[in-house]
Amino acid sequence: MSFEDKLQNAIANPQNMGEMTDADSVGTVGNPECGDMVRLWLKFDEKDGKKVINKASFQSFGCQTAIAVASMATEMLKGKTVEEARELKSTDLSEELGPLPPMKIHCGEMVEGALRDALKEDSDKEPPTQPSSVPGNTLLGDMNPAGKKSGKLKVIKLEE
Ligand code: FES
Repeated sequence: MSFEDKLQNAIANPQNMGEMTDADSVGTVGNPECGDMVRLWLKFDEKDGKKVINKASFQSFGCQTAIAVASMATEMLKGKTVEEARELKSTDLSEELGPLPPMKIHCGEMVEGALRDALKEDSDKEPPTQPSSVPGNTLLGDMNPAGKKSGKLKVIKLEE
């Protein structure tokens, strides 16, 4: 199966897409080059004395590759310990798609970056407490904070 076919399959039914209101940790990464952003939410559990990811979700204002990799990553992360998740590289997260074309490598790296940010938050910062109704808690809210013009960043909704 070609990369394009695998990509189309993956984005036809993306998994775990959407904000997680009861997340323990959240990570966000943006790419100034292409203007895309990915946010990843994680929910942890305790298993055999280890912190384990039991749920992951994402929002993406990015290209199809970023959405596909984020979807695969959120599935892959379930059941992984924080230590195991920290070992994952973008190539692991996008493994099902096969090697990414050179122009798309940063799309996978962006998902890895959001994961790193979420895992960093786990140990270094307070968990997110804002209710989802507060502008800024969603990725779209951050990109278009209430009362502010969206500046240079233009949000384009993806076609269904
Ligand atoms: Fe920028 Fe894919 S995330 S083109």
